Amino acid sequence: MKTIIIYSSITGNTKKLAHAIYNHKSTFDIMAVEDVNDLKAYDRIYLGYWVNRGTADEATLKLLKDITNKEIAAFGTSGQYSDSPVSLKYSNSVNDLILSDNVYLGGYICLGKIEESRTERRLKIAKGEKHYLTEEGYKRHLESRKHPDEEDIDRLLRWVDSIEEKYEISD
Ligand SMILES: Cc1cc2nc3c(=O)[nH]c(=O)nc-3n(C[C@H](O)[C@H](O)[C@H](O)COP(=O)(O)O)c2cc1C
Repeated sequence: MKTIIIYSSITGNTKKLAHAIYNHKSTFDIMAVEDVNDLKAYDRIYLGYWVNRGTADEATLKLLKDITNKEIAAFGTSGQYSDSPVSLKYSNSVNDLILSDNVYLGGYICLGKIEESRTERRLKIAKGEKHYLTEEGYKRHLESRKHPDEEDIDRLLRWVDSIEEKYEISD
């Protein structure tokens, strides 16, 4: 009975979370989503994604279509504050994408650094237009540069521990 961490990450935020779990749990395996081939050996997956246009990134969406008969706990990063309703919506949307013959064990999401180029692009959008960056939004972009931080990682590892305690893997 084995557990694997699979992660998708383009700028490193979700990879950082994945490796924090890996360093915390010596019996788990780890793999980048692009290297996933055969998951037969695994019962439980910690699935790491990044939020792209309001849902999980494409590589994760693709993988989710192939995952059946597993226990899945999903962790992700986005450009939104960890405790915001939008974050919760993202997390719930990933739950909805998991095929029904899997068992969903829970979700975790936190703020991840938004790339500067993205902020620059948003700053060029005029007031009144879609994706205009408000002052609040700009502050969040700047705050995001510090994330995932130590507190995010602590919360992540506590989340992992609570899942591992609650749902023991049977032999
Ligand atoms: C193409 C693209 C689309 C994004 N879409 C969203 C989005 O819809 N909502 C959001 O909160 N963050 C969005 N972000 C921010 C990322 O989700 C965030 O920076 C994440 O931590 C990146 O994870 P990674 O470093 O593991 O690749 C987007 C970033 C990119 C590059």
